[in-house]
Amino acid sequence: KKLIIINGPNLNLLGKREPQIYGSLTFNEFFETITSKYPSISMEHFQSNIEGEIIDKLHEVGFTYDGIILNAAAYTHTSVGIGDAVAAIETPVIEVHISNTYKREDFRHQSFVAAHAKGVIVGFGLQSYELAIQSFIPF
Ligand code: DQA
Repeated sequence: KKLIIINGPNLNLLGKREPQIYGSLTFNEFFETITSKYPSISMEHFQSNIEGEIIDKLHEVGFTYDGIILNAAAYTHTSVGIGDAVAAIETPVIEVHISNTYKREDFRHQSFVAAHAKGVIVGFGLQSYELAIQSFIPF
């Protein structure tokens, strides 16, 4: 299986960004652990702070990869364009969030991605990504 994790704005600062909300592990540390834990899965990671680059990446991988794990971060709540891109592609997209966005400000309760996603995993810390990966492994 070929999966890609796409991370949106500010997630390059994981580990030092509001650690009380997002934890103190960097994404690269987490990614190393997760890739060695699931050796049968080919896993890539892409991060961008730029909306159009996230859309371009969804187009690039969205007709050939087996799955996309998307944390669009703040763009989740603002971007009709990213929502439309998820609707346009064929590869199933799992929306993930590290924090429980429903416990936070009202503006984080809205997602332009969720209606087009295969499923949504919210609030399990970095484990949200792992649960998304496991959803591609048949039991
Ligand atoms: C986030 C939640 C978003 O509301 C926020 O803008 C983020 C991270 C999360 O993973 O918890 O940047 O997507």
